[in-house]
Amino acid sequence: MPRARLACSHAARSLVDRLLAWYEEEARDLPWRRTKDPYSILVSEIMLQQTRVETVIPYYERFLRAYPTVESLATAPLDSVLKVWEGLGYYRRAHNLHSAAREVVERHGGRIPEDPVSLRGLPGIGPYTAAAVASIAFGGDEPVLDGNVIRVLARLFRTSGDPKRADTRRRLEGLARSLVPRGRASEFNQALMDLGARVCRPRHPSCEACPAATLCEAHRAGEEALFPTRTPKRPIPHVDVVAGVIWERGNDPCGPGARVLIAQRKAGDMLGGLWEFPGGTVEEGETLEEALRRELREELAIEVSVKSLLTVVNHAYTHFRMTLHVFHCRHIRGRPRAIGCAAFRWVEPPAAARYAMSVADRKVARALVASCG
Ligand code: ADE
Repeated sequence: MPRARLACSHAARSLVDRLLAWYEEEARDLPWRRTKDPYSILVSEIMLQQTRVETVIPYYERFLRAYPTVESLATAPLDSVLKVWEGLGYYRRAHNLHSAAREVVERHGGRIPEDPVSLRGLPGIGPYTAAAVASIAFGGDEPVLDGNVIRVLARLFRTSGDPKRADTRRRLEGLARSLVPRGRASEFNQALMDLGARVCRPRHPSCEACPAATLCEAHRAGEEALFPTRTPKRPIPHVDVVAGVIWERGNDPCGPGARVLIAQRKAGDMLGGLWEFPGGTVEEGETLEEALRRELREELAIEVSVKSLLTVVNHAYTHFRMTLHVFHCRHIRGRPRAIGCAAFRWVEPPAAARYAMSVADRKVARALVASCG
């Protein structure tokens, strides 16, 4: 007898039951699953938007120790929040979470809203995070679609079309919505997430360990690898960036009391609010030294002479890869002015550790302290 297709409601119910039973046995023990506190769950979901579970765990715990309540986050200075977020990347999330906490306190009486529409009114909360918080923190019957869930559904239903396209997403969302069991959305959604992360992996899925394998249309056709449909990725561009460790006049580099210049990025820019060793992108036809002198003139109105190379750092962002070339510089003339940055400070190298920096600049700060011995 042919097995029932998933479009049939009996098979769909069986699928839901199997997923819930599997989750009861196999759910990952994650810190945000040990709480029902909506604020903690919101923090976890914002962190999980672009970062893997294993990476998020220590940041989540540290963040909640620093800001255990929405009020404590709302009243904290942004600089301190960025410092606690440092290293997690996608810093826009920290800005938004901080603003969202303020709105929750000012407009919602300190309570995270329950319904997805109000949640989406908060900064940094899109359809995914709103549905995740509504279902996981409040038990709302909302489906979620993240990368893992999309892969699981696309395989179960053999849904073709690139999930980046709106029409494919709408179809997948319709399928997810039709499956969500009343009152069990939290477990159901997280079952799909865990199944995607641990069993229905992008490459080499463990179909033998999948509770839904006999219902999975891609598996039945031997076509797991063809779903979800992928369009080839464009190559990621590469940029060369230069930065200066600019030593203040009057002291020997690395000597007692010698200070270097750090600058704060403008709020609306990429990595806005973070501190860095000033510099910028190398333009075509420029040498690294020329680019650095130009950038420092434009950003801070200073003239420097470029000295030895301190370090080279490679870093991959979402849309480009960067090679950061960092040079010691001597400050020749011009009192610094914050033209292309939000602020600047002269600091002794070990004191740079107190300022929130991107991963790449943090590596430079460590290399600097090490080189001064
Ligand atoms: N990714 C996003 N939210 C998650 C959750 N609640 N559990 C596991 N992975 C997730």
